[in-house]
Amino acid sequence: MTSFKRLAPLCLAALCLAGPVLAQEMYMGRFQEQTGEEIFHGVCQGCHMPNAQGAVGAGAYPALAHDERLMAPEYPALVILQGRKAMPSFGGLFSDTQIANVVNYVRTHFGNDYKTPITAEQVAALRGPTAPQAAQGEH
Ligand code: HEC
Repeated sequence: MTSFKRLAPLCLAALCLAGPVLAQEMYMGRFQEQTGEEIFHGVCQGCHMPNAQGAVGAGAYPALAHDERLMAPEYPALVILQGRKAMPSFGGLFSDTQIANVVNYVRTHFGNDYKTPITAEQVAALRGPTAPQAAQGEH
């Protein structure tokens, strides 16, 4: 028999899973904003915090500030396209341009200084044939 005490941590885990579900529901429609700054503050900061310092609470949201893992632009682009663990996939929500814009924004702000931008074409190539496509035709 599973006691309530043993279930309690599971309930906490369920709470932290509510984050991505909420985000997906909130953003099921197309997100209209285009600039990296607007996208970051409209979508990403909900989990990664306005200053990109990340947060540890019911779940762990990594800092994007001073993040050496942003050195290769393909890495954040793939995380955004495909999602990862508690981070929802945004591939179906954003156009290639929007993803490139927000990647280029976080890679040049919050103490990151990676100036070589990723292009919308590179993002399109990362989607691959089976990845969800953005609803819009523009690139
Ligand atoms: C619902 C919460 C949530 C939202 C919204 C969200 N993220 Fe995340 N993000 C996470 C979590 C949780 C992880 C850690 C995933 C893991 O465990 O590997 C993460 C990881 C990342 C990573 C990898 C960081 C590293 O150092 O490995 C990047 C880059 C990233 N997010 C960028 C973004 C961007 C850009 C946006 C906005 C388009 C965004 N995230 C929106 C929750 C979120």
